[in-house]
Amino acid sequence: MSIDAGDLGILSIAGITGFRDKGADPLQPISFSVPQRVLHWLTAALVFFNLLLPDGMNEWHRSMRRTGSASADQIASANIHSYVGIAILLLVILRLVLRFYQGTPPAPSKEPAIFQWAAKVAHVVLYLLLLAMPVTGVAAYYLGYESIGGIHADILKVVLWAVLAAHVLGVFVHQFYWKTNVLRRMTVG
Ligand code: HEM
Ligand code: HEM
Repeated sequence: MSIDAGDLGILSIAGITGFRDKGADPLQPISFSVPQRVLHWLTAALVFFNLLLPDGMNEWHRSMRRTGSASADQIASANIHSYVGIAILLLVILRLVLRFYQGTPPAPSKEPAIFQWAAKVAHVVLYLLLLAMPVTGVAAYYLGYESIGGIHADILKVVLWAVLAAHVLGVFVHQFYWKTNVLRRMTVG
């Protein structure tokens, strides 16, 4: 019996070898592109920076609330949080443009339909949060909307942590339980 590579769905494009599920759309990519992967990890690093080290911004905020003014040092460290957040906004817009033009690999067929749906929802919510966090931050920091600052710091932050925890858990389940290639296609390709 002869088996041909097309039958198995083996594919090699620009040095990337991967497996496509039988019957999958041949025009859909098998991996995220290099720019998509670089942007994912750069965004992740900047998001964790702002989530884990918001103290400079918090000190500026506390000082403004108590005294109506802030020292040059407090403003400088608050600006770091602000610029990192604005960089995230720009990178996410670039990511969405790339996603539109380059597409994404299909969900692995080993993943049950309900989880495929949950992953899609999680990704949409992540993109919305990565847009909403900087926008609400700008409204609070530059335009002085205190209540929007509360939404940014107390509500969106908590939702972001929760969705990120689910996202990372999902990736681990893929890697170790379903043994799919999702981590690979967002790292080495
Ligand atoms: C994805 C981007 C961002 C993330 C993940 C993020 C995350 C955070 C976190 C974790 C806090 C501290 C919340 C707490 O008290 O526990 C915070 C506070 C704050 N952030 Fe951001 N931030 C982002 C973007 C921005 C931007 C772009 C600005 C301004 C231009 C900004 C302005 C502020 C302000 C003013 C506060 C204090 C608000 C308050 O306590 O009422 N953030 N942010
Ligand atoms: C702040 C941190 C992170 C953010 C904001 C984030 C956001 C996202 C988003 C929005 C996607 C969907 C990509 C798309 O379909 O366009 C995605 C995919 C992915 N992320 Fe993250 N992520 C973060 C951290 C992580 C971490 C820590 C891991 C590793 C454990 C990870 C692994 C992945 C993988 C493997 C995919 C591809 C999923 C697939 O092929 O369907 N991410 N991420």
